[in-house]
Amino acid sequence: MAVILDGKMLSAKFREGIKAETEILKHKTGKAPGIAVILAGDDPASNVYVTSKERTAIECGFHSVVERVSANVTTEDILKLVKKFNDDDKIHGILVQLPLPRNCDEKTILRAIKPEKDVDGFHPYNVGLLNIGEDCLMPCTPFGVMNMLADYGIELSGKNAVVIGRSNIVGKPIAAMLLKANATVTICHSKTKNLAEICSKADILVAAMGRPKFVTREFIKTGAVVIDVGINRLDGKLCGDVDYDGVKDMCSFITPVPGGVGPMTITTLMQNTLKAFKMIEKL
Ligand code: GUN
Repeated sequence: MAVILDGKMLSAKFREGIKAETEILKHKTGKAPGIAVILAGDDPASNVYVTSKERTAIECGFHSVVERVSANVTTEDILKLVKKFNDDDKIHGILVQLPLPRNCDEKTILRAIKPEKDVDGFHPYNVGLLNIGEDCLMPCTPFGVMNMLADYGIELSGKNAVVIGRSNIVGKPIAAMLLKANATVTICHSKTKNLAEICSKADILVAAMGRPKFVTREFIKTGAVVIDVGINRLDGKLCGDVDYDGVKDMCSFITPVPGGVGPMTITTLMQNTLKAFKMIEKL
């Protein structure tokens, strides 16, 4: 029977640690980690995420600012906000919620964030550091997965890891992190041939392609660790990219949806903000 990787429990534990460290640093320096989130438009899912980020930041003892702007905003308007936060000494982390409205130039906006405040790890400077294996701010969802694997003592060195999905937010960065942890990494995507066969060789399988319950028994090696990054809505219910009930008896470890990877993401954002604070304030 699989061990369920409990992201809810783990993120609560990590948040306690962040809160305690923040308290100590506040006492020592008189300063608090500060995070600014820019949300353009009224996408309901983004709104839920941003509200949750704000609540968690406050729970951790951070200074938190959210700028909500309309969907008609221009690239220049967002660049002005980014510049304001780049120059604001009370802000150590800047996050621009994606997706941006269609008329905004995402590449230009993400590149305008100061790399040392780039708590999403999306700036090409941080992407480059990650890919040469150096210390940097790393994307929250994949970094949260790595923290979860580490906390459960899951060995990665020498293991076959297969990642389904090649997004800049999850697939590519988690592949880089697994490689750094000495796994042998294969990245699959929509054009991959023999997908199930490749996945069935995986000791660690990461599903991050956004297709509800796509990963079924023929994808799974007996004893595999299965990480489900998908969040999909099917018949009004949340489900992942993995057919959880269908595969779980084959796995050694598996993440549920909800309650697996999801809760780790915002916690990791707080860890990144604390890290940026310590770097910027030289603590
Ligand atoms: N939208 C979905 N996931 C993310 C994320 O990790 N960061 C940002 N900024 N936007 C997102």
